[in-house]
Amino acid sequence: MGSRIKLLCKLWAGLAALCALTVLCASCGPRMRDQASILPFEQAMPPMPAGTVSTKGRMATFTQTQAALASAPVAPTARSIGDGKIFYRYYCLMCHGEKGDGNGPVGESYVPKPADLASPKIAAMTDGQLYRAMLRGKGHDPVMNQTVRLEYRWPLVAYVRTFAK
Ligand code: HEC
Repeated sequence: MGSRIKLLCKLWAGLAALCALTVLCASCGPRMRDQASILPFEQAMPPMPAGTVSTKGRMATFTQTQAALASAPVAPTARSIGDGKIFYRYYCLMCHGEKGDGNGPVGESYVPKPADLASPKIAAMTDGQLYRAMLRGKGHDPVMNQTVRLEYRWPLVAYVRTFAK
C-alpha cells in the first residue's frame, strides 16, 4: 500500500517537472518579431535618374520689389475662384472668417485681429503683393509659406479678391 502511494507521488512529481520544462521552453521562444524582415526605414531608396529636379518643391516667395510688379499668371475664373474658396477654408477661415473680416473662431482672440480682407488696403495691393502678404506678410511669416501648397496659391489670391467686391 505504502509503496503504491510512493509510486504515485513520484509520477506526479515527474509530470509537474515536465510541465515546468515545457512552459520554460515555450517562453524562450522563437519569437515572431525575431525573423528576417525589412523594416520601412531599412529599405534602400530606388535610385533617382540623373538630373532629376523637383517640380513640386518650395518656391521662394517674391521679394517686395518683385511682388509690386507681379500679376497673377492666370486670370481668375469661376473654377480658380471656386478652388480658392476650398483652400481658403483649409488655411485661412479659422482666422480671417467666413466673410474675410478677421472674425474667424481663432482670429477673434488675436491682438491685433487678422486683417480685414475686404478692406481698401488689401484691394489696393497688386496680385503679387497679396500673394506675398498672404504667405510672408504680418501675422503669418513663415508658417503660411511653408504650409500652403504651391498649386493652391494663385487660386487663393483669386478668391481673396472676391471679398473686396
Ligand atoms: C493663425 C491665424 C491666421 C491664419 C491661419 C491666416 N491669417 Fe492672415 N493674418 C493674420 C494676422 C494676425 C494678420 C496681421 C494683422 C495685422 O497685423 O494687422 C494677418 C494678415 C493678413 C493679410 C495682410 C498682411 C499684410 O502684410 O498687410 C492678408 C492679405 C492675409 N492675412 C491673408 C490670409 C490668407 C489668404 C490666409 C490663408 C492662406 C491667411 N491670411 C491665414 C492671421 C492669420
